[in-house]
Amino acid sequence: MALKLLCLAGDGIGPEIMVATQKVVAAAAACHGLDLQFEDREIGFAALEAQHSTIPESVIEAARAADGVVLGPVSHNAYPPREAGGLNPSGVLRKELDLFANIRPATSVAGLPTPTGAPVDLVIFRENLEGFYADRNLHSGPGEFMPVPGVAMAMRLVTRHASERIGRAAFANAEREGRKRVTAVHKANVLRTSDGLFLEVIREIAADHPDIAYDEVLVDAATALLVRDPSRFDVIVTTNMFGDILSDLATELAGGLGLAASLNLGPHHAAAQAQHGSAPDIAGQDKANPTSLIGSAAMLMAQLGCPPVALSIQTALTEALSRPATRTADIGGPLGTTAFTDSVIDLLRETDE
Ligand code: IPM
Ligand code: MN
Repeated sequence: MALKLLCLAGDGIGPEIMVATQKVVAAAAACHGLDLQFEDREIGFAALEAQHSTIPESVIEAARAADGVVLGPVSHNAYPPREAGGLNPSGVLRKELDLFANIRPATSVAGLPTPTGAPVDLVIFRENLEGFYADRNLHSGPGEFMPVPGVAMAMRLVTRHASERIGRAAFANAEREGRKRVTAVHKANVLRTSDGLFLEVIREIAADHPDIAYDEVLVDAATALLVRDPSRFDVIVTTNMFGDILSDLATELAGGLGLAASLNLGPHHAAAQAQHGSAPDIAGQDKANPTSLIGSAAMLMAQLGCPPVALSIQTALTEALSRPATRTADIGGPLGTTAFTDSVIDLLRETDE
């Protein structure tokens, strides 16, 4: 089997955590005899300077052609306007590759304290193309507009098709991974039409999975419950903006957003993506924790039919995080990016010998 991954390092700490990720994934691939190639292309500020766009069309084409994409963090808040090439690479790739599901596990690590002391083990299935986030959906118009000065309006798009896709993905994951409950998080008591449709579709899918427990929680209540008792959640399925917000909360409760992996998934493509930002303030100082991108790449390898490679990466990563001596500074350890990466590779090779 041979695989080609398109690697888009992005801005800030992106290049250094991409190097770390490629070293770990390459080591795991070698342990399992997998022929793995990386293709590096620029996005973000580097692409803007060279090609007048933060995500050139040639990169989108390369993403379509690759077996998988590894997407680093981008500083899209600092980009110029869209008209000047300041596109959001994350939103563009989700739209162009039809990456309708954003899969975000929140998993605490034994030995690594969580803010509340409670363990966390859940996964969020976030609809990735609709809702208020009109910069990436194929159907709606401007998304946001200002009909008259001083009045801004935003459109929220929820379709049966998108709700079906994310609902089916969530229940299929629960079946495949042995998870027992799917919880739909919504605000249908206010957003009666849009979240009413979302719940109507999810209930239909739930009825087709009688062996999986199903319930529904209002999004405001869900934030309180996540802090009070994260164990009451197993799989969360929700719309775009709620998933964006809940995934940061859940992963922080699991030990830190900087540890959080994510996979953007569509019918024909998949993109691993760090959940955190580009952290320009620590770029180039060997301080960045590469866990999020490495864990995301492990999810991608599992998706691409290489679960042994994914397991090797995740096992070594979890072991390194569980030991104070092999942690990075953001989680109280002594190591820089390079030394942490080498520790993960050493553990990986020990485990696979
Ligand atoms: C995320 C991010 C992005 C999103 C932003 C940076 C565009 O918040 O992936 O969680 O929600 O689309
Ligand atoms: Mn976010």
